[in-house]
Amino acid sequence: MKFIDIHNHLIAHWDDGAEDWEMSLEMLRQGMDDGIEQVICTPHILSGNDLKREDELISLYEELKRRAKEAEIPIKIHLGAELYIQPDMMLDRKICTLAQNGRYFLAEFSMSMIPDFVAQKFFDYLLTDKIPIIAHPERNVSIINAPQKACEFVERGALLQVNAGSLYGVFGSRVQTAAVQLMDANLVHFIASDGHDLNTRPLLLRKTFEIVKEKWGDERARKLFYENQVKMINAEDIPAGNFQMINSQPLSFREKISNFINKIN
Ligand SMILES: [Fe+2]
Repeated sequence: MKFIDIHNHLIAHWDDGAEDWEMSLEMLRQGMDDGIEQVICTPHILSGNDLKREDELISLYEELKRRAKEAEIPIKIHLGAELYIQPDMMLDRKICTLAQNGRYFLAEFSMSMIPDFVAQKFFDYLLTDKIPIIAHPERNVSIINAPQKACEFVERGALLQVNAGSLYGVFGSRVQTAAVQLMDANLVHFIASDGHDLNTRPLLLRKTFEIVKEKWGDERARKLFYENQVKMINAEDIPAGNFQMINSQPLSFREKISNFINKIN
């Protein structure tokens, strides 16, 4: 089984991902040994100022491709971005959409909440056929507390990307529970590494593929690790399929305290 990773921070010298080119290449080798055949690099774009540095980012991407070729790493490398959604963010730059397909973009927002403007902003984008893929919703405190919010986004046309590590507890048990709830409700469309380094958040997918295959079946696993990715790169439609609403359980006192501590940190 081959994989396509649509979310990682492989490009060195840009964000909190790979520290240098050596690490970028090591991450690619790690991915290659794991069965990854294509990657879309998604460096963080945190502001309009970052977007203005598009040419710089494209040069770094070209350098990564050149170095990977010299190192005889056969992974196909595309460029995209992980956009931290701002009220005034336009998607008019090449790097905004994944693999520059003009249609799908990877969006993140604050981990502690969902800002009020986000739903409207996504709706505006969707009206122009720009489709948000929400990065790691299972890590967002609002969605952990009220997973039905994830359903509302999908109902409006957004797609969801869960991190591979979330499904085996890398980000803690509450994130893992949220990831499993989203999977059970058929609300996940992509699983990606969000690879930042070689150990903590590596460029690995196979372990999670096996978990998904075991718990939710082979057909589902292939869709979430490869087939939807191919459609996305080609800017084709990805039907959300039949998903279920998630009923939230009231929070325990301990969970409320833990949320409060997360917020003030
Ligand atoms: Fe990321």
